[in-house]
Amino acid sequence: MLELRKVYHYYGKARALEEVNLTVEEGSLDAVIGPNGAGKSTLLRAISGLEEIDRGRISFMGERIDELDPHEIARKGIGHCPERRRLFYDMSVMENIELGAYALQDKSKYPELLDFVFDIFPRLDERRKQRAGTLSGGEQQMLAIARALMSNPKLLLLDEPSLGLAPKIKTRIFEAVEQIKHEGTTTLLVEQDAVLAMEVADYIYVLEEGKIEMSGTKEQLEREPRIKKVYLGI
Ligand SMILES: Nc1ncnc2c1ncn2[C@@H]1O[C@H](COP(=O)(O)OP(=O)(O)O)[C@@H](O)[C@H]1O
Ligand SMILES: [Mg+2]
Repeated sequence: MLELRKVYHYYGKARALEEVNLTVEEGSLDAVIGPNGAGKSTLLRAISGLEEIDRGRISFMGERIDELDPHEIARKGIGHCPERRRLFYDMSVMENIELGAYALQDKSKYPELLDFVFDIFPRLDERRKQRAGTLSGGEQQMLAIARALMSNPKLLLLDEPSLGLAPKIKTRIFEAVEQIKHEGTTTLLVEQDAVLAMEVADYIYVLEEGKIEMSGTKEQLEREPRIKKVYLGI
């Protein structure tokens, strides 16, 4: 569904992505793990057209997308849930959700999608009228994911959904991510919390200083001494 081939991105002279090759198969939930500053957000921003890549190509459903504008990429079916949520904090839960449906092609799908997101996040259903800024951190993350889902994406990009959340809430968010995958939305997640990400992902890429240093299933990566030491603390 998604393919990155030899992708490079520079901020001025600083290289943020170097020869990144990555594939996401339809129906799978894949993760990119790596420390702060590794290039994870840059990678997702490049896919959704928010950063222009300097070299390489990005294809989505067999079509090259790396020269398209962000709104065109969104219309092709890529939904992006950005780092630190980026909600409209003065607006209500419902208004944020409605804004998410802005990129929805087939507006007749709206009621169905609304049921879908409230089924995954009943907490949001109970708080429809509440101002987004007054939600807890976990609820804000739920809302950011719900908003991205309202465009009915074929591919969902999730940037650090666990950031700043307590362990119990992190687990709840990751259960929702698994449910979204089971409902049929292909997902690419980037995370610093390697343990959680490896728990849910079908395939994992390790990104360090802009380079994919390793990739594999959880079982494969768990056998790597360096992954154990650096990412799993065992
Ligand atoms: N807008 C920017 N301008 C210049 N450098 C940036 C910008 N955004 C990110 N960087 C740099 O690019 C590298 C990768 O950043 P980022 O993609 O945010 O990493 P991550 O999401 O893994 O923490 C870091 O060294 C960061 O400082
Ligand atoms: Mg980031």
